[in-house]
Amino acid sequence: MAAALSKISCWASYILFLYFVYHPAEAAVKRYQFDIQVKNVSRLCHAKPIVTVNGRFPGPTVYVREGDRVLVNVTNHAKYNMSIHWHGLKQFRNGWADGPAYITQCPIKRGHSFTYDFTVTGQRGTLWWHAHILWLRATVYGAIVIMPKPGTPFPFPQPDREENIILGEWWNSDVEDIETQGDKLGLPPNASDAHTINGKPGPLFPCSEKHTFTLEVEQSKTYLLRIINAALNDELFFAIAGHNMTVVEIDAVYTKPFTTRAILIAPGQTTNVLVQATQKPNRYFMAARPFMDAPLSIDNRTATAILQYKGIPNTVIPLLPHLPEANDTSFALSYNAKLRSLNSPQFQANVPLNVDRHLFYTIGLGINPCPTCLNGTKLAASLNNITFVMPQVGLLQAHYFNIKGVFRLDFPDNPPTPFNYTGAPLTANLGTTLGTRVSKIAYNSTVQLVLQDTNLLSVESHPFHLHGYNFFVVGTGIGNFDPKRDPAKFNLVDPPERNTVGVPTGGWTAIRFRADNPGVWFMHCHLELHTGWGLKTAFVVENGKLPDQSILPPPKDLPPC
Ligand code: C2O
Repeated sequence: MAAALSKISCWASYILFLYFVYHPAEAAVKRYQFDIQVKNVSRLCHAKPIVTVNGRFPGPTVYVREGDRVLVNVTNHAKYNMSIHWHGLKQFRNGWADGPAYITQCPIKRGHSFTYDFTVTGQRGTLWWHAHILWLRATVYGAIVIMPKPGTPFPFPQPDREENIILGEWWNSDVEDIETQGDKLGLPPNASDAHTINGKPGPLFPCSEKHTFTLEVEQSKTYLLRIINAALNDELFFAIAGHNMTVVEIDAVYTKPFTTRAILIAPGQTTNVLVQATQKPNRYFMAARPFMDAPLSIDNRTATAILQYKGIPNTVIPLLPHLPEANDTSFALSYNAKLRSLNSPQFQANVPLNVDRHLFYTIGLGINPCPTCLNGTKLAASLNNITFVMPQVGLLQAHYFNIKGVFRLDFPDNPPTPFNYTGAPLTANLGTTLGTRVSKIAYNSTVQLVLQDTNLLSVESHPFHLHGYNFFVVGTGIGNFDPKRDPAKFNLVDPPERNTVGVPTGGWTAIRFRADNPGVWFMHCHLELHTGWGLKTAFVVENGKLPDQSILPPPKDLPPC
Protein backbone atom coordinates (compact mmCIF):
# COMPACT_ATOMS: atom_id res chain seq x y z
CA MET A 1 0.00 0.00 0.00
CA ALA A 2 2.73 2.39 1.04
CA ALA A 3 4.69 1.45 -2.06
CA ALA A 4 1.64 2.07 -4.24
CA LEU A 5 1.12 5.48 -2.64
CA SER A 6 4.69 6.49 -3.09
CA LYS A 7 4.46 5.40 -6.73
CA ILE A 8 1.40 7.64 -7.19
CA SER A 9 3.05 10.60 -5.50
CA CYS A 10 6.13 9.99 -7.63
CA TRP A 11 3.97 10.12 -10.76
CA ALA A 12 2.18 13.19 -9.48
CA SER A 13 5.41 15.05 -8.96
CA TYR A 14 6.60 13.95 -12.40
CA ILE A 15 3.41 15.36 -13.95
CA LEU A 16 3.81 18.55 -11.94
CA PHE A 17 7.41 18.77 -13.12
CA LEU A 18 6.31 18.41 -16.76
CA TYR A 19 3.62 21.04 -16.20
CA PHE A 20 6.09 23.61 -14.92
CA VAL A 21 8.63 22.87 -17.62
CA TYR A 22 6.13 23.27 -20.43
CA HIS A 23 3.91 25.94 -18.84
CA PRO A 24 6.24 28.63 -17.57
CA ALA A 25 4.39 30.97 -15.19
CA GLU A 26 1.50 32.35 -17.26
CA ALA A 27 1.24 36.12 -17.34
CA ALA A 28 -1.51 37.35 -15.08
CA VAL A 29 -4.39 39.70 -15.72
CA LYS A 30 -4.43 42.65 -13.30
CA ARG A 31 -7.65 44.59 -12.92
CA TYR A 32 -8.09 48.06 -11.45
CA GLN A 33 -11.13 50.25 -10.97
CA PHE A 34 -10.40 54.00 -11.18
CA ASP A 35 -13.31 56.14 -10.02
CA ILE A 36 -12.69 59.77 -10.94
CA GLN A 37 -14.22 61.67 -8.05
CA VAL A 38 -13.96 65.03 -6.36
CA LYS A 39 -12.69 65.10 -2.82
CA ASN A 40 -11.98 67.81 -0.28
CA VAL A 41 -8.31 67.89 0.54
CA SER A 42 -6.67 70.29 2.94
CA ARG A 43 -3.16 71.67 2.43
CA LEU A 44 -1.46 74.97 3.35
CA CYS A 45 -4.10 76.00 5.90
CA HIS A 46 -7.24 75.45 3.84
CA ALA A 47 -9.30 72.79 2.16
CA LYS A 48 -10.44 72.70 -1.46
CA PRO A 49 -12.15 70.15 -3.69
CA ILE A 50 -9.74 68.35 -6.03
CA VAL A 51 -10.23 65.75 -8.74
CA THR A 52 -8.86 62.36 -7.61
CA VAL A 53 -8.83 58.67 -8.44
CA ASN A 54 -10.77 56.72 -5.79
CA GLY A 55 -10.58 59.73 -3.45
CA ARG A 56 -6.82 59.26 -3.07
CA PHE A 57 -4.09 61.84 -3.54
CA PRO A 58 -1.67 60.78 -4.97
CA GLY A 59 -3.73 58.08 -6.65
CA PRO A 60 -3.32 54.30 -6.30
CA THR A 61 -0.17 52.53 -7.48
CA VAL A 62 -0.61 50.23 -10.47
CA TYR A 63 1.51 47.26 -9.43
CA VAL A 64 2.18 44.74 -12.21
CA ARG A 65 4.74 42.31 -13.56
CA GLU A 66 6.43 42.39 -16.93
CA GLY A 67 4.23 40.40 -19.33
CA ASP A 68 0.96 41.06 -17.45
CA ARG A 69 -2.19 42.22 -19.13
CA VAL A 70 -3.62 45.24 -17.32
CA LEU A 71 -7.26 46.30 -17.40
CA VAL A 72 -8.03 49.64 -15.81
CA ASN A 73 -11.69 50.60 -15.91
CA VAL A 74 -11.99 54.36 -15.53
CA THR A 75 -15.40 55.71 -14.50
CA ASN A 76 -15.79 59.47 -14.54
CA HIS A 77 -17.95 60.93 -11.75
CA ALA A 78 -16.38 64.41 -11.94
CA LYS A 79 -17.55 67.49 -13.84
CA TYR A 80 -14.50 67.57 -16.13
CA ASN A 81 -13.92 65.32 -19.13
CA MET A 82 -11.14 62.84 -18.36
CA SER A 83 -8.49 60.69 -19.99
CA ILE A 84 -5.60 58.82 -18.38
CA HIS A 85 -2.13 58.33 -19.88
CA TRP A 86 0.21 55.50 -18.87
CA HIS A 87 3.36 57.54 -19.18
CA GLY A 88 6.26 55.53 -20.61
CA LEU A 89 4.34 52.35 -21.44
CA LYS A 90 5.03 51.55 -25.06
CA GLN A 91 1.49 50.37 -25.86
CA PHE A 92 2.78 48.27 -28.74
CA ARG A 93 0.33 48.58 -31.71
CA ASN A 94 -2.18 49.70 -29.11
CA GLY A 95 -2.34 53.50 -29.10
CA TRP A 96 -6.01 53.14 -28.12
CA ALA A 97 -4.84 52.61 -24.54
CA ASP A 98 -2.31 55.47 -24.54
CA GLY A 99 -4.70 58.13 -23.30
CA PRO A 100 -3.81 61.67 -24.43
CA ALA A 101 -7.14 63.41 -25.07
CA TYR A 102 -7.85 64.23 -28.73
CA ILE A 103 -4.65 62.44 -29.80
CA THR A 104 -5.53 58.77 -29.23
CA GLN A 105 -9.05 59.04 -27.85
CA CYS A 106 -11.87 61.39 -27.09
CA PRO A 107 -12.26 62.08 -23.39
CA ILE A 108 -14.40 60.03 -21.01
CA LYS A 109 -17.43 62.19 -20.25
CA ARG A 110 -19.09 62.47 -16.87
CA GLY A 111 -21.09 59.32 -16.09
CA HIS A 112 -19.18 57.24 -18.64
CA SER A 113 -16.49 54.56 -18.43
CA PHE A 114 -13.65 53.30 -20.55
CA THR A 115 -11.35 50.34 -19.95
CA TYR A 116 -7.68 50.84 -20.76
CA ASP A 117 -6.55 47.37 -21.85
CA PHE A 118 -2.83 46.85 -22.39
CA THR A 119 -0.04 44.35 -22.00
CA VAL A 120 3.30 45.27 -20.44
CA THR A 121 5.85 43.99 -22.94
CA GLY A 122 9.62 44.21 -22.58
CA GLN A 123 9.57 46.81 -19.83
CA ARG A 124 10.20 46.71 -16.11
CA GLY A 125 10.81 49.48 -13.59
CA THR A 126 9.07 52.66 -12.49
CA LEU A 127 6.66 54.60 -14.67
CA TRP A 128 3.57 56.59 -13.77
CA TRP A 129 0.07 57.43 -14.88
CA HIS A 130 -1.61 60.81 -15.05
CA ALA A 131 -4.64 62.64 -16.41
CA HIS A 132 -3.90 63.81 -19.96
CA ILE A 133 -6.41 66.58 -20.44
CA LEU A 134 -6.30 70.24 -19.36
CA TRP A 135 -4.27 70.71 -16.16
CA LEU A 136 -6.02 67.89 -14.33
CA ARG A 137 -2.82 65.95 -13.89
CA ALA A 138 -2.04 68.45 -11.10
CA THR A 139 -3.95 66.10 -8.78
CA VAL A 140 -4.71 63.03 -10.90
CA TYR A 141 -1.52 60.96 -10.91
CA GLY A 142 0.07 57.87 -9.41
CA ALA A 143 2.92 55.39 -9.76
CA ILE A 144 3.23 52.36 -12.04
CA VAL A 145 5.57 49.72 -10.66
CA ILE A 146 6.52 46.95 -13.08
CA MET A 147 8.31 44.05 -11.39
CA PRO A 148 10.68 41.97 -13.53
CA LYS A 149 9.53 38.52 -14.68
CA PRO A 150 9.58 35.86 -11.95
CA GLY A 151 13.09 34.57 -11.38
CA THR A 152 14.70 37.66 -12.94
CA PRO A 153 16.49 39.62 -10.22
CA PHE A 154 17.34 43.31 -10.44
CA PRO A 155 20.81 43.85 -11.95
CA PHE A 156 21.86 45.63 -8.72
CA PRO A 157 21.94 44.68 -5.01
CA GLN A 158 18.47 43.52 -3.97
CA PRO A 159 16.89 46.17 -1.72
CA ASP A 160 15.32 45.20 1.60
CA ARG A 161 12.35 47.47 0.98
CA GLU A 162 11.08 49.94 -1.58
CA GLU A 163 9.04 53.14 -1.54
CA ASN A 164 7.50 55.45 -4.14
CA ILE A 165 8.49 59.11 -3.87
CA ILE A 166 6.23 61.21 -6.10
CA LEU A 167 7.12 64.88 -6.46
CA GLY A 168 4.31 67.27 -7.34
CA GLU A 169 2.93 70.80 -7.15
CA TRP A 170 0.04 72.22 -5.19
CA TRP A 171 -2.13 75.25 -5.98
CA ASN A 172 -4.38 76.82 -3.34
CA SER A 173 -7.02 77.63 -5.95
CA ASP A 174 -8.67 75.36 -8.46
CA VAL A 175 -6.12 74.48 -11.18
CA GLU A 176 -8.70 74.72 -13.93
CA ASP A 177 -9.59 78.29 -12.85
CA ILE A 178 -5.88 79.14 -12.89
CA GLU A 179 -5.46 77.68 -16.36
CA THR A 180 -8.53 79.45 -17.81
CA GLN A 181 -7.51 82.72 -16.18
CA GLY A 182 -4.02 82.58 -17.73
CA ASP A 183 -5.54 81.73 -21.10
CA LYS A 184 -7.97 84.65 -20.93
CA LEU A 185 -5.32 87.18 -19.98
CA GLY A 186 -2.70 85.76 -22.34
CA LEU A 187 -0.23 85.59 -19.44
CA PRO A 188 1.47 82.73 -17.65
CA PRO A 189 -0.91 81.42 -14.98
CA ASN A 190 0.04 81.71 -11.31
CA ALA A 191 2.91 79.53 -10.18
CA SER A 192 2.03 76.78 -7.72
CA ASP A 193 1.83 77.56 -4.00
CA ALA A 194 3.89 74.58 -2.88
CA HIS A 195 5.86 71.61 -4.02
CA THR A 196 4.91 68.26 -2.60
CA ILE A 197 6.38 64.84 -1.85
CA ASN A 198 3.73 62.10 -2.01
CA GLY A 199 1.09 64.83 -2.03
CA LYS A 200 2.46 66.55 1.09
CA PRO A 201 4.44 69.81 1.20
CA GLY A 202 6.25 69.17 4.50
CA PRO A 203 6.89 71.46 7.49
CA LEU A 204 8.61 74.34 5.66
CA PHE A 205 5.16 75.43 4.41
CA PRO A 206 2.43 76.96 6.61
CA CYS A 207 0.11 74.51 8.46
CA SER A 208 2.01 71.61 6.92
CA GLU A 209 3.51 69.84 9.93
CA LYS A 210 0.77 67.22 9.72
CA HIS A 211 1.09 67.03 5.95
CA THR A 212 4.56 65.53 5.94
CA PHE A 213 5.51 62.22 4.39
CA THR A 214 7.76 60.07 6.57
CA LEU A 215 9.76 57.03 5.51
CA GLU A 216 10.86 54.95 8.47
CA VAL A 217 14.12 53.09 7.90
CA GLU A 218 16.04 50.44 9.80
CA GLN A 219 19.75 50.71 10.41
CA SER A 220 21.94 49.04 7.73
CA LYS A 221 19.06 48.15 5.39
CA THR A 222 18.98 49.11 1.70
CA TYR A 223 16.01 50.99 0.23
CA LEU A 224 14.94 51.33 -3.38
CA LEU A 225 13.29 54.71 -3.90
CA ARG A 226 11.16 55.01 -7.01
CA ILE A 227 11.21 58.76 -7.62
CA ILE A 228 8.72 60.30 -10.04
CA ASN A 229 8.44 63.94 -11.08
CA ALA A 230 4.71 64.57 -11.45
CA ALA A 231 5.07 68.37 -11.20
CA LEU A 232 3.38 70.38 -13.92
CA ASN A 233 6.01 72.96 -14.63
CA ASP A 234 9.16 72.45 -12.59
CA GLU A 235 12.35 70.51 -13.07
CA LEU A 236 13.47 69.50 -9.60
CA PHE A 237 16.57 68.67 -7.61
CA PHE A 238 16.08 66.00 -4.96
CA ALA A 239 18.44 65.07 -2.14
CA ILE A 240 18.47 63.36 1.26
CA ALA A 241 20.44 64.90 4.11
CA GLY A 242 23.47 62.80 5.07
CA HIS A 243 22.80 60.10 2.48
CA ASN A 244 24.12 59.55 -1.02
CA MET A 245 21.93 57.90 -3.62
CA THR A 246 22.96 55.33 -6.22
CA VAL A 247 21.08 55.81 -9.48
CA VAL A 248 20.18 52.41 -10.99
CA GLU A 249 17.33 53.12 -13.38
CA ILE A 250 15.72 56.00 -15.28
CA ASP A 251 12.36 55.92 -17.08
CA ALA A 252 12.12 52.14 -16.51
CA VAL A 253 15.51 51.40 -18.10
CA TYR A 254 18.48 50.13 -16.03
CA THR A 255 21.52 52.39 -15.93
CA LYS A 256 25.17 51.95 -15.05
CA PRO A 257 25.00 52.64 -11.31
CA PHE A 258 26.59 55.84 -10.02
CA THR A 259 26.50 57.59 -6.70
CA THR A 260 25.40 61.19 -6.28
CA ARG A 261 24.43 63.60 -3.49
CA ALA A 262 21.46 64.94 -5.50
CA ILE A 263 19.47 63.99 -8.56
CA LEU A 264 17.86 66.17 -11.22
CA ILE A 265 14.49 65.07 -12.48
CA ALA A 266 12.28 66.74 -15.09
CA PRO A 267 8.48 66.53 -15.23
CA GLY A 268 7.61 63.15 -16.72
CA GLN A 269 10.84 61.43 -15.74
CA THR A 270 11.37 58.70 -13.17
CA THR A 271 14.59 57.80 -11.33
CA ASN A 272 15.22 54.73 -9.18
CA VAL A 273 17.91 55.08 -6.54
CA LEU A 274 19.31 52.82 -3.83
CA VAL A 275 19.80 54.39 -0.41
CA GLN A 276 21.62 52.70 2.44
CA ALA A 277 20.48 53.47 5.96
CA THR A 278 23.98 53.40 7.38
CA GLN A 279 24.21 56.86 8.94
CA LYS A 280 23.84 57.86 12.58
CA PRO A 281 20.24 57.07 13.61
CA ASN A 282 18.45 60.40 13.34
CA ARG A 283 15.78 62.23 11.36
CA TYR A 284 16.89 63.50 7.96
CA PHE A 285 15.02 65.69 5.50
CA MET A 286 14.46 64.54 1.93
CA ALA A 287 13.95 67.71 -0.10
CA ALA A 288 12.92 68.81 -3.58
CA ARG A 289 13.38 72.27 -5.09
CA PRO A 290 13.22 73.63 -8.65
CA PHE A 291 16.12 73.82 -11.05
CA MET A 292 15.60 76.99 -13.05
CA ASP A 293 18.53 78.44 -14.97
CA ALA A 294 16.45 80.67 -17.24
CA PRO A 295 16.45 84.37 -16.32
CA LEU A 296 12.99 84.06 -14.80
CA SER A 297 11.95 84.44 -11.20
CA ILE A 298 13.80 82.08 -8.88
CA ASP A 299 11.57 79.69 -7.02
CA ASN A 300 13.11 78.58 -3.75
CA ARG A 301 10.14 76.82 -2.19
CA THR A 302 11.39 73.52 -0.85
CA ALA A 303 9.17 70.48 -0.35
CA THR A 304 10.39 68.19 2.39
CA ALA A 305 9.70 64.69 3.67
CA ILE A 306 11.45 62.82 6.46
CA LEU A 307 13.73 59.81 6.46
CA GLN A 308 13.46 58.61 10.04
CA TYR A 309 15.54 55.88 11.62
CA LYS A 310 13.52 53.43 13.68
CA GLY A 311 13.36 54.39 17.34
CA ILE A 312 14.15 58.09 16.87
CA PRO A 313 11.34 60.22 18.37
CA ASN A 314 9.35 62.68 16.24
CA THR A 315 10.56 65.56 18.41
CA VAL A 316 14.09 65.49 16.93
CA ILE A 317 14.54 68.36 14.44
CA PRO A 318 15.63 66.92 11.08
CA LEU A 319 18.72 68.02 9.18
CA LEU A 320 18.30 69.69 5.77
CA PRO A 321 20.22 68.34 2.75
CA HIS A 322 22.55 70.46 0.72
CA LEU A 323 20.64 70.92 -2.56
CA PRO A 324 22.28 72.44 -5.63
CA GLU A 325 21.42 76.13 -6.11
CA ALA A 326 18.37 76.81 -8.26
CA ASN A 327 20.53 78.06 -11.15
CA ASP A 328 23.30 75.45 -10.88
CA THR A 329 23.60 74.67 -14.60
CA SER A 330 26.94 72.94 -14.19
CA PHE A 331 25.53 70.45 -11.66
CA ALA A 332 22.64 69.78 -14.04
CA LEU A 333 24.89 69.19 -17.04
CA SER A 334 27.36 66.99 -15.20
CA TYR A 335 24.56 64.97 -13.57
CA ASN A 336 22.92 64.30 -16.95
CA ALA A 337 26.30 63.37 -18.45
CA LYS A 338 26.63 60.54 -15.90
CA LEU A 339 23.47 58.79 -17.10
CA ARG A 340 24.36 55.72 -19.20
CA SER A 341 22.33 52.70 -20.21
CA LEU A 342 23.39 49.54 -18.37
CA ASN A 343 23.93 47.88 -21.78
CA SER A 344 24.58 44.42 -20.33
CA PRO A 345 24.17 41.23 -22.41
CA GLN A 346 20.74 40.81 -20.81
CA PHE A 347 19.67 44.45 -21.08
CA GLN A 348 21.17 45.73 -24.28
CA ALA A 349 21.12 49.23 -25.67
CA ASN A 350 20.10 48.70 -29.30
CA VAL A 351 21.03 52.16 -30.51
CA PRO A 352 20.23 52.75 -34.20
CA LEU A 353 23.61 53.26 -35.86
CA ASN A 354 22.28 54.41 -39.22
CA VAL A 355 19.64 57.06 -39.63
CA ASP A 356 16.90 56.83 -42.28
CA ARG A 357 15.20 60.08 -41.38
CA HIS A 358 16.81 63.25 -40.05
CA LEU A 359 14.56 65.69 -38.21
CA PHE A 360 15.54 69.06 -36.78
CA TYR A 361 12.92 70.90 -34.70
CA THR A 362 13.36 74.35 -33.19
CA ILE A 363 11.60 75.19 -29.95
CA GLY A 364 10.25 78.73 -29.86
CA LEU A 365 8.34 80.83 -27.39
CA GLY A 366 6.57 83.84 -28.82
CA ILE A 367 3.75 86.31 -28.63
CA ASN A 368 0.63 86.05 -30.77
CA PRO A 369 -1.96 88.80 -31.18
CA CYS A 370 -5.01 88.37 -28.96
CA PRO A 371 -7.49 91.28 -29.09
CA THR A 372 -9.38 90.08 -25.99
CA CYS A 373 -6.24 89.56 -23.85
CA LEU A 374 -4.86 91.94 -21.23
CA ASN A 375 -2.03 93.36 -23.36
CA GLY A 376 -3.62 92.54 -26.70
CA THR A 377 -1.21 89.63 -27.00
CA LYS A 378 -0.93 86.11 -25.77
CA LEU A 379 2.04 83.85 -25.15
CA ALA A 380 2.48 81.00 -27.58
CA ALA A 381 4.99 78.26 -28.25
CA SER A 382 5.99 76.50 -31.43
CA LEU A 383 8.04 73.71 -33.00
CA ASN A 384 9.52 74.70 -36.36
CA ASN A 385 7.35 77.84 -36.11
CA ILE A 386 4.13 75.83 -35.86
CA THR A 387 1.85 76.24 -32.87
CA PHE A 388 -0.06 72.98 -32.62
CA VAL A 389 -3.85 73.26 -32.55
CA MET A 390 -5.72 70.49 -30.75
CA PRO A 391 -8.21 68.67 -33.01
CA GLN A 392 -11.85 67.94 -32.09
CA VAL A 393 -11.53 64.22 -32.92
CA GLY A 394 -8.81 61.84 -31.79
CA LEU A 395 -5.95 61.84 -34.30
CA LEU A 396 -5.63 58.07 -34.00
CA GLN A 397 -9.28 57.57 -35.00
CA ALA A 398 -8.86 60.04 -37.87
CA HIS A 399 -5.81 58.08 -39.05
CA TYR A 400 -7.30 54.60 -38.54
CA PHE A 401 -10.70 55.36 -40.08
CA ASN A 402 -9.27 57.70 -42.69
CA ILE A 403 -11.34 60.72 -41.61
CA LYS A 404 -10.27 63.64 -43.80
CA GLY A 405 -9.59 67.20 -42.70
CA VAL A 406 -8.55 66.48 -39.09
CA PHE A 407 -4.79 66.84 -39.49
CA ARG A 408 -2.15 67.50 -42.14
CA LEU A 409 0.86 65.24 -42.70
CA ASP A 410 3.16 68.08 -43.71
CA PHE A 411 5.00 68.95 -40.53
CA PRO A 412 8.37 70.19 -41.86
CA ASP A 413 11.52 68.15 -41.14
CA ASN A 414 13.47 71.41 -40.68
CA PRO A 415 12.67 74.97 -39.59
CA PRO A 416 11.34 77.12 -42.47
CA THR A 417 14.26 79.58 -42.28
CA PRO A 418 17.49 78.74 -40.49
CA PHE A 419 18.85 81.49 -38.22
CA ASN A 420 21.30 81.86 -35.35
CA TYR A 421 19.05 79.96 -32.92
CA THR A 422 20.86 80.85 -29.74
CA GLY A 423 22.35 84.21 -30.76
CA ALA A 424 21.26 87.62 -29.56
CA PRO A 425 17.86 87.54 -27.86
CA LEU A 426 14.96 87.82 -30.28
CA THR A 427 11.62 89.09 -29.17
CA ALA A 428 9.51 88.83 -32.29
CA ASN A 429 7.79 85.83 -33.77
CA LEU A 430 9.33 84.44 -36.92
CA GLY A 431 5.99 84.08 -38.65
CA THR A 432 4.54 81.37 -36.46
CA THR A 433 1.50 79.63 -37.93
CA LEU A 434 -1.27 77.65 -36.30
CA GLY A 435 -2.06 74.12 -37.42
CA THR A 436 -2.71 70.48 -36.60
CA ARG A 437 0.31 69.31 -38.52
CA VAL A 438 2.11 66.04 -37.87
CA SER A 439 4.91 64.03 -39.43
CA LYS A 440 4.56 60.70 -41.24
CA ILE A 441 7.23 58.13 -40.40
CA ALA A 442 7.81 54.90 -42.35
CA TYR A 443 7.42 51.66 -40.40
CA ASN A 444 10.65 50.42 -38.84
CA SER A 445 12.69 53.37 -40.10
CA THR A 446 15.33 54.83 -37.84
CA VAL A 447 14.76 58.42 -36.83
CA GLN A 448 17.13 61.02 -35.48
CA LEU A 449 15.49 64.09 -34.02
CA VAL A 450 17.49 67.10 -32.89
CA LEU A 451 15.53 69.44 -30.62
CA GLN A 452 17.05 72.91 -30.66
CA ASP A 453 16.15 75.54 -28.08
CA THR A 454 16.01 79.07 -29.48
CA ASN A 455 16.28 82.55 -28.14
CA LEU A 456 12.78 83.54 -29.15
CA LEU A 457 11.45 85.56 -26.23
CA SER A 458 13.46 83.62 -23.65
CA VAL A 459 15.68 80.60 -23.41
CA GLU A 460 14.42 77.90 -21.12
CA SER A 461 14.98 74.19 -20.66
CA HIS A 462 12.25 71.93 -22.02
CA PRO A 463 11.64 68.30 -21.04
CA PHE A 464 10.37 66.60 -24.20
CA HIS A 465 8.28 63.44 -23.98
CA LEU A 466 7.54 61.03 -26.81
CA HIS A 467 4.60 58.65 -26.45
CA GLY A 468 4.78 55.02 -27.64
CA TYR A 469 8.57 54.78 -27.56
CA ASN A 470 11.76 54.95 -25.63
CA PHE A 471 14.55 56.79 -27.41
CA PHE A 472 18.29 57.00 -26.98
CA VAL A 473 19.74 60.37 -26.00
CA VAL A 474 22.80 60.23 -28.25
CA GLY A 475 24.02 63.78 -27.76
CA THR A 476 23.37 67.15 -26.18
CA GLY A 477 25.13 70.50 -26.12
CA ILE A 478 24.92 74.22 -25.49
CA GLY A 479 24.50 76.66 -28.39
CA ASN A 480 23.56 75.71 -31.95
CA PHE A 481 23.66 72.09 -33.09
CA ASP A 482 26.43 71.65 -35.65
CA PRO A 483 25.40 68.90 -38.09
CA LYS A 484 29.01 68.54 -39.29
CA ARG A 485 30.87 68.29 -36.00
CA ASP A 486 28.45 67.25 -33.27
CA PRO A 487 27.44 63.79 -34.58
CA ALA A 488 31.07 62.68 -34.34
CA LYS A 489 30.76 63.10 -30.57
CA PHE A 490 27.54 61.10 -30.23
CA ASN A 491 27.44 58.21 -27.78
CA LEU A 492 26.17 55.27 -29.85
CA VAL A 493 27.29 52.63 -27.34
CA ASP A 494 25.51 53.17 -24.03
CA PRO A 495 23.51 56.42 -24.22
CA PRO A 496 20.67 56.85 -21.74
CA GLU A 497 17.42 55.34 -22.97
CA ARG A 498 14.31 57.15 -21.82
CA ASN A 499 10.90 58.57 -22.71
CA THR A 500 11.42 62.17 -21.54
CA VAL A 501 14.55 64.25 -21.99
CA GLY A 502 15.51 67.80 -21.13
CA VAL A 503 16.63 70.12 -23.90
CA PRO A 504 19.08 72.39 -22.08
CA THR A 505 18.50 76.13 -21.87
CA GLY A 506 19.95 77.65 -25.04
CA GLY A 507 21.11 74.25 -26.27
CA TRP A 508 20.10 71.10 -28.14
CA THR A 509 19.48 67.41 -27.60
CA ALA A 510 19.66 64.63 -30.20
CA ILE A 511 17.58 61.47 -29.83
CA ARG A 512 17.31 58.31 -31.93
CA PHE A 513 14.64 55.63 -32.11
CA ARG A 514 13.41 52.89 -34.42
CA ALA A 515 9.83 53.50 -35.55
CA ASP A 516 8.64 49.94 -34.90
CA ASN A 517 5.40 50.85 -33.15
CA PRO A 518 2.67 51.82 -35.61
CA GLY A 519 0.16 54.43 -34.48
CA VAL A 520 -0.21 58.10 -33.73
CA TRP A 521 2.18 59.18 -31.01
CA PHE A 522 2.11 62.52 -29.25
CA MET A 523 5.34 64.40 -28.63
CA HIS A 524 5.35 67.46 -26.41
CA CYS A 525 7.09 69.52 -23.81
CA HIS A 526 6.12 68.05 -20.43
CA LEU A 527 5.87 71.52 -18.87
CA GLU A 528 2.09 71.80 -18.95
CA LEU A 529 2.38 75.54 -19.41
CA HIS A 530 4.25 75.09 -22.70
CA THR A 531 2.10 72.18 -23.88
CA GLY A 532 -0.89 74.46 -23.43
CA TRP A 533 0.80 77.15 -25.52
CA GLY A 534 1.21 74.69 -28.42
CA LEU A 535 4.65 73.12 -27.86
CA LYS A 536 3.58 69.77 -29.25
CA THR A 537 3.12 67.67 -32.38
CA ALA A 538 2.67 63.99 -33.22
CA PHE A 539 4.21 61.26 -35.33
CA VAL A 540 2.03 59.09 -37.53
CA VAL A 541 3.99 55.85 -37.74
CA GLU A 542 2.75 53.75 -40.65
CA ASN A 543 1.84 50.08 -40.49
CA GLY A 544 4.37 47.45 -41.54
CA LYS A 545 3.61 44.75 -44.11
CA LEU A 546 3.20 41.77 -41.79
CA PRO A 547 -0.01 41.07 -39.89
CA ASP A 548 1.62 41.74 -36.50
CA GLN A 549 2.98 45.10 -37.65
CA SER A 550 -0.24 47.08 -37.86
CA ILE A 551 -2.41 49.00 -35.42
CA LEU A 552 -4.77 46.72 -33.47
CA PRO A 553 -8.52 47.27 -33.96
CA PRO A 554 -10.02 49.82 -31.57
CA PRO A 555 -11.74 48.65 -28.37
CA LYS A 556 -15.55 48.59 -28.48
CA ASP A 557 -15.96 51.00 -25.57
CA LEU A 558 -13.69 53.74 -26.99
CA PRO A 559 -15.35 57.03 -25.94
CA PRO A 560 -17.23 58.83 -28.73
CA CYS A 561 -16.37 62.46 -29.44
CU1 C2O B 1 3.26 62.33 -19.30
CU2 C2O B 1 1.85 63.23 -22.98
O1 C2O B 1 2.47 62.85 -21.11
